Amino acid sequence: LDDLLAEGVSGRRVLVRADLNVPLDKQTGAITDDGRIRAVLPTLSALTEAGAKVVVFSHLGRPKGAPDPQYSLRPVAGRLGELLGVPVSFAEDTVGESARSTVDALADGQVALLENLRFNKGETSKDDAERGAFADQLAALGEAYVDDAFGAVHRKHASVHDVPARLPHVAGRLVLREVEVLSRLTGEPERPYVVVLGGSKVSDKLAVIEALLPKVDKLLIGGGMCFTFLKAQGHEVGTSLLEEEMVGTCRDLLARADGKILLPVDVVAADAFAPDAAHDTVRADAIPSKRLGLDVGPATVAAFAEVIGTARTVFWNGPMGVFEMPAFAAGTRGVAEAITKADAFTVVGGGDSAAAVRALGLDESSFGHISTGGGASLEYLEGKTLPGIAALED
Ligand code: 3PG
Repeated sequence: LDDLLAEGVSGRRVLVRADLNVPLDKQTGAITDDGRIRAVLPTLSALTEAGAKVVVFSHLGRPKGAPDPQYSLRPVAGRLGELLGVPVSFAEDTVGESARSTVDALADGQVALLENLRFNKGETSKDDAERGAFADQLAALGEAYVDDAFGAVHRKHASVHDVPARLPHVAGRLVLREVEVLSRLTGEPERPYVVVLGGSKVSDKLAVIEALLPKVDKLLIGGGMCFTFLKAQGHEVGTSLLEEEMVGTCRDLLARADGKILLPVDVVAADAFAPDAAHDTVRADAIPSKRLGLDVGPATVAAFAEVIGTARTVFWNGPMGVFEMPAFAAGTRGVAEAITKADAFTVVGGGDSAAAVRALGLDESSFGHISTGGGASLEYLEGKTLPGIAALED
């Protein structure tokens, strides 16, 4: 971005791909967590202050290539304007007449947000020509392109991968910071390097576990996915979440882990998946047959906290339990608090763990970095080539 600013952007139309995919309340449509909007403000302010005509585009949710009001970005335009302190105009379409006239009406230093990119089939198409045709229309709206959508850099989508091929292109402040931080983890992290993984499915995290195992000193596993590992150790897990077809893979990972993988020693087991379900803390090797684990227990939090306390680098992705239900939030809270207390460089992977930090009211500034990318940060740590980063590197 500094290179682009140094060239001078006053009066130029600058396209900014942001990831404004924020959670919305299902009933009221209100934005429940504006972290991703805040994260893009430094780039947008730098451009408006330099007199650019700023055109922001983003996806929201996963609409199926056609307009769908529940995924409109309109509420985001209002919030973005409040946070930026300048009005943000909104175009009802992404590339049609409304987009064109909204962009034409921009004065220097003003901002417009276009409607959800994914209302157009070309955005996510696997067909290069279809994606390219959409990228041609997007690129025609601007004279330069800034990618600040770290949360979407792992997607080979028109706005991420194909628009930068058509315009002078740079990384925004957020993308730069995310890559700087995450590359510290893929490079030579200070040791001990401890990774905490949670979330529901082993299958979603298998690639990152494989990539991290040789690099980490300890890998602490909680969340729904721990039950498939506990089963692989020969324990019964009652009616807990279980990926039967992954049990063999987990057994193999445990055999190869050389003692690096730590699993829960106790869990909070409930008689139903409900906020008011009856529940008890039980040993992880003695989960009753009709109960399901919804959180890790206090002995696990203590054991994980002890390991985290010795770390010099910590990466955390995925909640330890169903933190949205207060009865099953203690594990996530306890582990998160241990991370904030560690004398270490600490990074929170985005998605659910970043949402948990904010929902539990933890102090965001006590973490070294909270990534805005869920899938993107994991794929970065796996060492994959990410289409949105590759597109900026030429
Ligand atoms: C995310 O929420 O991880 C990003 O916004 C990407 O969204 P997607 O998984 O729908 O591509």
